[in-house]
Amino acid sequence: QPLDTFNTFRIPARARHYLRVDGAEQLAAVRADPALAALPRLVLGGGSNLLFTRDVEGLVLHMTGQGREVLGEEAGKILVRAQAGENWHAFVRFTLEQGIGGLENLSLIPGTVGAAPIQNVGAYGVETKDVFHSLTAYDMASGATRTLDTAACRFGYRDSIFKHPDGANLVVLDVTFALPRAWQPNLRYAELGNAVREAGLTAPTPNAIGLMVEAIRRRKLPDPREIGNAGSFFKNPVVSNAECARLLAQFPTLVHHAQPDGTFKLAAGWLIDQCGWKGRHLGAAGVYHKQALVLVNLGGATGQDVVQLAAAIQADVAARYGVMLEPEPVFI
Ligand code: EPU
Repeated sequence: QPLDTFNTFRIPARARHYLRVDGAEQLAAVRADPALAALPRLVLGGGSNLLFTRDVEGLVLHMTGQGREVLGEEAGKILVRAQAGENWHAFVRFTLEQGIGGLENLSLIPGTVGAAPIQNVGAYGVETKDVFHSLTAYDMASGATRTLDTAACRFGYRDSIFKHPDGANLVVLDVTFALPRAWQPNLRYAELGNAVREAGLTAPTPNAIGLMVEAIRRRKLPDPREIGNAGSFFKNPVVSNAECARLLAQFPTLVHHAQPDGTFKLAAGWLIDQCGWKGRHLGAAGVYHKQALVLVNLGGATGQDVVQLAAAIQADVAARYGVMLEPEPVFI
């Protein structure tokens, strides 16, 4: 099965074994078949957070389940559930069009609903964990269907239990979000707050903010349908107070944000930009000209091209700033 159109980087790769999954039944069938159960597995959603560096020898489980529903209210929250294979942005629009706020800052993020908790996707000051209620996952090890709440998911920055060994057997089937009945805009992220003020919106609706987020993202992030990419290619590095002070002494314009735990998050895009990488390329893999944090497939790039470009960027940033950038997408 070719995977070229199943990854937003548009990297050519093939899967030896491939199965579309829209519920627990197919996963139980995989478990019951000794040959299939023995294969290494790759769970695939929208393919917007992975980089194929070779063909997949194991079994690709392509999560395609569709469906979404408003479940009702619980403790001042509106519970809305969607199946793992639902397109994320279409789901966000579904909630906003019904006047339900809470997901507007997460507009236009590529990928599926099922992938959102795995990455704890976040943008403009909101993370999945902030609007999360629970999810259903199938445990490939035990065959049980489990419900995981926020604590069980162990969310971190672009991180969750599903990216760690003890969550590796869990396949997300559906996700329930808890969205506020008494909604308040979250405009703490300066770029969004400024855009809303400049547009003269004094009492913005969730939908108006969602459309504003779409406009900001369209301005600086490449549309994967036009230019292959996987969003931010590196995580924003987190450094200690002492490390941040050392860097600031040498680089006074360093972009840094204080974290609640006393550490500082640096802007990887800024570090890469300062190293002169913005708009440059190695072969068919490039650094997007409007946002240095996004690596792009300029046409015909292989996974190895992207790996080489990423390594060159990491080496330059490490040499200049002593900071090691960590890739955000999973390398397959
Ligand atoms: N910057 C530069 N040059 C660049 C890019 C950025 O100097 O080429 C500077 C900007 O001026 C700004 C700072 O770096 O001062 C941060 O940039 P920006 O506000 O664009 O946010 P980001 O750190 O690049 C993060 C998330 C995005 C998310 C935005 C908005 C990560 C790794 N990335 O990007 O998430 O949409 O904030 O909240 O946390 C993703 O994960 O795929 C993603 C797109």
